[in-house]
Amino acid sequence: MASDTYLLGTDLRELERLRLQHELWLPEARRAWCRAGLKPGERVLDLGAGPGFVARELAVEVGPEGRVLGLELSAAYVAAARGAASGLNQLEIRQHDLCQDPLPQEPFDLVWCRWVLMFLGELDPLLDRLAAQLRPGARLIVHEYIHWSSFGLHPGADGVASFGRAAHASFLAAGGDPDVNRRLPGLLAQRGLRIDELRPLTVVGRLGDGVARWLERFVTTYGPELIRQGLWSDGEARRAQAEMAAARQDPGAFWLGPTLMETRATR
Ligand SMILES: C[S@@+](CC[C@H](N)C(=O)[O-])C[C@H]1O[C@@H](n2cnc3c(N)ncnc32)[C@H](O)[C@@H]1O
Repeated sequence: MASDTYLLGTDLRELERLRLQHELWLPEARRAWCRAGLKPGERVLDLGAGPGFVARELAVEVGPEGRVLGLELSAAYVAAARGAASGLNQLEIRQHDLCQDPLPQEPFDLVWCRWVLMFLGELDPLLDRLAAQLRPGARLIVHEYIHWSSFGLHPGADGVASFGRAAHASFLAAGGDPDVNRRLPGLLAQRGLRIDELRPLTVVGRLGDGVARWLERFVTTYGPELIRQGLWSDGEARRAQAEMAAARQDPGAFWLGPTLMETRATR
């Protein structure tokens, strides 16, 4: 894997998985922006912007008088996000390593971060920079997991359960922390930020609905990489495929998503 990519890769399949995931979670993101009082004209920093799906929505929210700056490690995603930014002069995407690079010296009103901190080996340098750089009154919204291991297909889908254990192990092996949001509120409070709200975000899916498709897509996209790494097997993958196919027709079967939390704080 190239050094400017992340654990799940940046090929077209992963980009399309992120799009599906984004479409499912966009209403929750919008509710979070509303709770934080995001307004037209505000300046927003998007940490780990990926292919720019959220940055584009944020740019529409703040309008032409506002500004959105998306920071993203992967050159492939920076290119995709810049393509998606066309026609929105208030949106800029920069290649940036959140673990290494100094934050831009700009007075942001709101910082948004979703599914990024879980992949960073070390949080302290980024949080130190944020605490030092943000202006008083700036708000931070983070959507990251607090209980990744709630991921599963019920009842009793052992093949999918073995995938969940393998994916969790791969996050840890790469130096990340799938449950990073358990630590985040404490780390922010230590740096003088006020914790405004901690809100659990859980989803249940069934019969091939949007949640079921999101979680199935993660198994089919990331499964081959787990097999390549020796963390999962072809036999377990065949078993998971059969369980997922059966669940699409079974009114008693349901998916439970990995449990997220919204952490909302003010500098
Ligand atoms: C699961 S994607 C989430 C993308 C986007 N935040 C969203 O919600 O759709 C994780 C993103 O974090 C980026 N990332 C990982 N480590 C990073 C780092 N050190 N600096 C900047 N971005 C990073 C990855 O390249 C990837 O685009």
